Amino acid sequence: MSDLESRITSWYEQREEMSPENHEARRDVELVIAKLDDGQIRVAELNARGEVVVHEWVRQAILLLFRLRGLTHYEVGPFEYLDKLELKHDYARRGVRVVPGASARRGSFLSPGVILMPSYVNVGAWVGRDSMVDTWATVGSCAQIGANVHLAGGVGIGGVLEPANAVPVVIEDDAFIGSRCMIVDGARVGRGSVVGAGCVLNPSIPVIDADSGVEVSRGYVPDYCVAVSASRRRSYPGGEFFLPCVLIIRRLTEGERHNKVALNEILRDHGVAT
Ligand SMILES: CC(C)(COP(=O)(O)OP(=O)(O)OC[C@H]1O[C@@H](n2cnc3c(N)ncnc32)[C@H](O)[C@@H]1OP(=O)(O)O)[C@@H](O)C(=O)NCCC(=O)NCCS
Repeated sequence: MSDLESRITSWYEQREEMSPENHEARRDVELVIAKLDDGQIRVAELNARGEVVVHEWVRQAILLLFRLRGLTHYEVGPFEYLDKLELKHDYARRGVRVVPGASARRGSFLSPGVILMPSYVNVGAWVGRDSMVDTWATVGSCAQIGANVHLAGGVGIGGVLEPANAVPVVIEDDAFIGSRCMIVDGARVGRGSVVGAGCVLNPSIPVIDADSGVEVSRGYVPDYCVAVSASRRRSYPGGEFFLPCVLIIRRLTEGERHNKVALNEILRDHGVAT
């Protein structure tokens, strides 16, 4: 455990007493946010066995930030804001293209080659190299998005600041998440998978293999699957109903890219040196 980690853990134990006057705690927390912002640390990551490891102390620092900072007033042209966290800066240095209307909060990390269409990225989120966050997509706090991912228009990636020990959403490298999907509460999409438009995925939603009829998981689409939203019959005392599920309709071979979701390179050429 690093010194910074143990200090944050101890400040978090005293969180009820924390206020913006606590300068020592604030200095530590601001250091964590600066490291998150530059990608030196992250809230969660995959280990060598492919398991999600959450660095709880980093999330605790983010929660403390809201106690340790007062509100600041900003005006941008006709727009006015009142918030505790500022926005990210310095996009040219970071090699990130940001279309007007997009906002990323400081303490999120955007890798070189990322394109933000008018979208939102919250604190603690990580977005990997060359990923596209399309129009009206939101990347919730602490969500972990891999490299070469496309979050299509209106996708909602849930955030997790609370409860303690909650696992963030993980979208692995090369995945495609179709328009208006809602992926929340620690759900996970594996490498190279394609999730069809309009899917809801959370840890209660069964993921079913269409070939075998077997439920392969809840809330986890494995690597290289093409999955769409479907429904399953459920009987209750009040009658029969159809609840949502996610159906794997096809398997891709490792490294294969689904022909319908290839991105037009011309849209991805972002003109920012990386
Ligand atoms: C998931 C997707 C890639 C599937 O494409 P595909 O592998 O070529 O599959 P098909 O189009 O042949 O569809 C297979 C079956 O799934 C159904 N299906 C396709 N997409 C679906 C979806 N999003 N939700 C539910 N069912 C879907 C089809 O009706 C078809 O049923 P059928 O076998 O009875 O005809 C595609 O339909 C999709 O959702 N693309 C994302 C579009 C998008 O979000 N674009 C982003 C713009 S910013």
